Amino acid sequence: MQSFKRYTVTSALPYANGPVHIGHLAGVYIPADIYVRYLRSTGANVLFIGGSDEHGVPITIRAKKEGVTPQQIVDKYHNLIKDSFQQLGISFDIYSRTSSPTHYETSSAYFKALYDKNCFIEESSEQYFDPVAQQFLADRYIMGTCPKCGNENAYGDQCEKCGSTLSPSELIQPRSTLSGEKPILKTTKHWYLPLDAYEPFLKEWILKEHKQDWKTNVYGQCKSWLDAGLQPRAVTRDLDWGVPVPVPNADGKVLYVWFDAPIGYISATKDYFKSEVKPIHKHHVWEDYWKKEDTKLVHFIGKDNIVFHCIIFPAMLKAEGSYILPANIPANEFMNLEGDKISTSRNWAVWLHEYLEEFPNQQDVLRYVLCANAPETKDNDFTWRDFQARNNNELVAILGNFINRALVLTQKYFEGKVPKLGTVEPIDEATLSMLKEIPDSIAQSIESYKFREALGHLMDMARLGNKYLADTEPWKIFKDQPERVGTILHISLQIAANLRIVVEPFLPFSAEKLAEMLQLSTVTWKNAGSSNLLKEGQGLGPVHLLFEKIEDSTIEAQIKKLEDTKKANELANAQAKELKQNVTFDEFSKMDIRIATITAAEKVAKTKKLLKLTLDTGVDIRTVVSGIAEFFEPEKIVGQQVCLLANLAPREIKGIMSQGMILMAENADGSLAFMQPNKQVMNGSTVS
Ligand code: 2FM
Ligand code: ZN
Repeated sequence: MQSFKRYTVTSALPYANGPVHIGHLAGVYIPADIYVRYLRSTGANVLFIGGSDEHGVPITIRAKKEGVTPQQIVDKYHNLIKDSFQQLGISFDIYSRTSSPTHYETSSAYFKALYDKNCFIEESSEQYFDPVAQQFLADRYIMGTCPKCGNENAYGDQCEKCGSTLSPSELIQPRSTLSGEKPILKTTKHWYLPLDAYEPFLKEWILKEHKQDWKTNVYGQCKSWLDAGLQPRAVTRDLDWGVPVPVPNADGKVLYVWFDAPIGYISATKDYFKSEVKPIHKHHVWEDYWKKEDTKLVHFIGKDNIVFHCIIFPAMLKAEGSYILPANIPANEFMNLEGDKISTSRNWAVWLHEYLEEFPNQQDVLRYVLCANAPETKDNDFTWRDFQARNNNELVAILGNFINRALVLTQKYFEGKVPKLGTVEPIDEATLSMLKEIPDSIAQSIESYKFREALGHLMDMARLGNKYLADTEPWKIFKDQPERVGTILHISLQIAANLRIVVEPFLPFSAEKLAEMLQLSTVTWKNAGSSNLLKEGQGLGPVHLLFEKIEDSTIEAQIKKLEDTKKANELANAQAKELKQNVTFDEFSKMDIRIATITAAEKVAKTKKLLKLTLDTGVDIRTVVSGIAEFFEPEKIVGQQVCLLANLAPREIKGIMSQGMILMAENADGSLAFMQPNKQVMNGSTVS
């Protein structure tokens, strides 16, 4: 295996057009953070880059929707995202943004360098233009029917239903998302990166050199792109939000967001070196992390970003010529939520900033669940029941339980001091030798980007501890064999100390608590596997629970929140029912509709839906049985004026003679509303 002097680890820059959700975390940030924390604990020199992607149509669309400027949108979401990442313990060395002056300079200079080397094709073509909005319709400003799957709401750059990458000209029946109008064609000039020219290089580099070490899902997507043949791709857009194209005669044109965003990783690195750097980066410059062959560059991304990171950005790096190429691009698939695709526009997500508020001090539970269930090889589903089960049955019952037992027993029998290791019996030896193996298994899994597998090995360490205590039963033998109990707890505490090391990349907050309880702060991965991390007689700190049980009511509240979202979406998308056949005026005139006041109301016994209403119709006082009990409490509707179909033939309902029917409006979700006059009128007033 090639050894590297330093690591540049990037995580996809999220668009600053909305908060971050569990899909982003499971796909990109949690695996990236585990990888980086692990590398750091081995003593490696790592630079972990993050930041906001602040250009592109998603930002301007959001700004328009909220009635504010794009700058206001990116400021709001950049800060929200940055804070919530920090609270979750995502340990970026820098979290930058593509609106930074450094990024404008860097991306502009990058484009100019490629322009000066004649790397672009300059071409005029006809593109869609909205005559009402007076704007060219790039990417998400245009929608239409997907030519591949028939989805009527495909975007100009991508169909979210089938995942195909599209160009606006491929859309069937295109429409502007600005005005809804049919766009016209208008000539405009753009700069294209001839990806076809890089095809031989990409084929050699990906299909030959990385067949073995890239993930199958990543390799497979690249292969199908390369097999289909690459086309020149426009790297500029007609938009007023973005980095201006830095060449003559390019007014009103900006860099395509996917040209400038990956350069954002480089700009962020420069920004980091302009600020106060950590000791480990002290004798370095930004170029070391991007231009030296002994640097390992790894991009963590979601599957929708594969083509940009595996094909387009490498072609850009190759075109420039002085940069290294990524060694690996471990993209994950998607995380769904309760069986449905996560969607920002449908608010179908668990938002990180809300989770942090609703589950204070439970960052590690989310980190654990999203890693244990990460969509590493296929799309996966997050459910709140699984979240609860993994917390209660795994974190609490396995990891928390072992730590608690080892520490509480040490408090009880040895006044919280590490007891002496006495005679080592076969079971002790077997346990210690298994303990020794586990950190290497974890490391191997992490280094091959199999984070779920790594977490499984970690839990095996806690299981090993539980089994050891269950087999040796120190609580039963203390009276007769206190020394033996000392040995058992000594070994148990060494297992706990190992957990403190291996847990850190995955569950850093729990590792911190463990460090305090064990009074063991500075340890590195090299120490993992050792059975001598804690010394005889060493005092331990106060014992606290690492994890708390999550109650049903907490989970039910989250499920209810999602059900409410679903209902709100259904209502927002509901279509009015089709009209009935025409009636004549004479037919309508036969209905005698009157205004009446409810003077009394009560539930009809043994029914769920029925209320018995007493109505003052101005003509008489009468009884009407109405199916509205699910929506109205009887005492709250007394005094309410209603519309009454007064000449509906009386009929008996549940033994009560109902004389007429009150008219109600039925909402899309089946809920009911009264039809009432917009001012108080005389009872008996006719409605026509
Ligand atoms: O898909 C996205 O959310 C993009 N904003 C990711 C950009 S990654 C990088 F290139 F900046
Ligand atoms: Zn499609």
